[in-house]
Amino acid sequence: MLVLGFESSCDETGVALVRVPEQGAPQLLAQALHSQISMHQAYGGVVPELASRDHIRRVLPLAREVLANSNTALAEIDVVAYTQGPGLAGALLVGAGVAVALAAALEKPTLGIHHLEGHLLSPFLSADAPEFPFVALLVSGGHTQLMRVTEVGQYEILGETIDDAAGEAFDKSAKLLGLPYPGGPHLARLAEGGDAAAFELPRPLLHSGKPDFSFAGLKTAVLTQVKRLGEAPTEQQKADLAAATQAAIVEVLVKKSLLALKTTGLKRLVVAGGVGANRLLREQLNAACARRGVRVHYPELSLCTDNGAMIAMAAAMRLQRGMAVLQTGPDAGGFEV
Ligand code: KG4
Ligand code: ZN
Repeated sequence: MLVLGFESSCDETGVALVRVPEQGAPQLLAQALHSQISMHQAYGGVVPELASRDHIRRVLPLAREVLANSNTALAEIDVVAYTQGPGLAGALLVGAGVAVALAAALEKPTLGIHHLEGHLLSPFLSADAPEFPFVALLVSGGHTQLMRVTEVGQYEILGETIDDAAGEAFDKSAKLLGLPYPGGPHLARLAEGGDAAAFELPRPLLHSGKPDFSFAGLKTAVLTQVKRLGEAPTEQQKADLAAATQAAIVEVLVKKSLLALKTTGLKRLVVAGGVGANRLLREQLNAACARRGVRVHYPELSLCTDNGAMIAMAAAMRLQRGMAVLQTGPDAGGFEV
């Protein structure tokens, strides 16, 4: 069975083709991705209208690329999967619209996938795929959650952020430091030459005893420091503040992940979402988990941020388990924003 997947929830247009074998792990046959980051950079963030328009421009050429690279004819596709939400309404509509139209033309069903389930299952695209059950740390631009994952579709939220997401904390702090959008990777790079001890920043809810998060206060503290540094901070001061910000976010993420592992008694941790690409987070989680006999799984670096492969993969895993709610005809194409 072949699944073609579309992702268009925010500023990345992704298309991928996954083969679902009778037995064994689904295989990624081809994928294509277009990032709109450079287009939105001038505005300091994603402009929804521009995002939708660019998805419209990119989606069909990307789909053609995937089919050509995998030597697959359109008629061979069995299921068309797409991100049904959450995300930007206009952006989601493009992926959903194309998926539903394609499926209707092929007389094949569609399968709407929750964007976060795509992230959550993205480590299954790597050679070293995890086994169920595991604790998942989902850290993206819009979400920060710890979950107990028993099987596909069995997700118990153990804790989440009460305000900003970890990615948002990275991006907003980066903006205050004058870095381009999306700030996470830029802040991480700047932090490499910085001394995290040069600034004292809060770690909200660190000792709450629960796997919950709060990052809004950190952003305010960074703003206070930026103001204190005045109009012309030195490069070293900026690097130090970036390092302190990153250290604060990472410390909270590591500590809460360990708490979730302890309370569930699970010995496997899966990290997913854009912030999962952060090197300091990976280093500190690896070290802390190694001491506790916990295995940590990550998606491949290129699959941490939004992509079509994770959507096709999540659809494939649902199909394999007979739990996919396939839609055809006028009911197809449901989505949520
Ligand atoms: O998962 P994702 O692509 O989009 C959402 O679904 O939100 O995550 C994007 C987020 C952004 O906030 C970005 O700054 C952050 O992931 N990010 C990073 C790094 N790479 C991406 N944050 C910290 N360090 C990184 N290396
Ligand atoms: Zn995402």
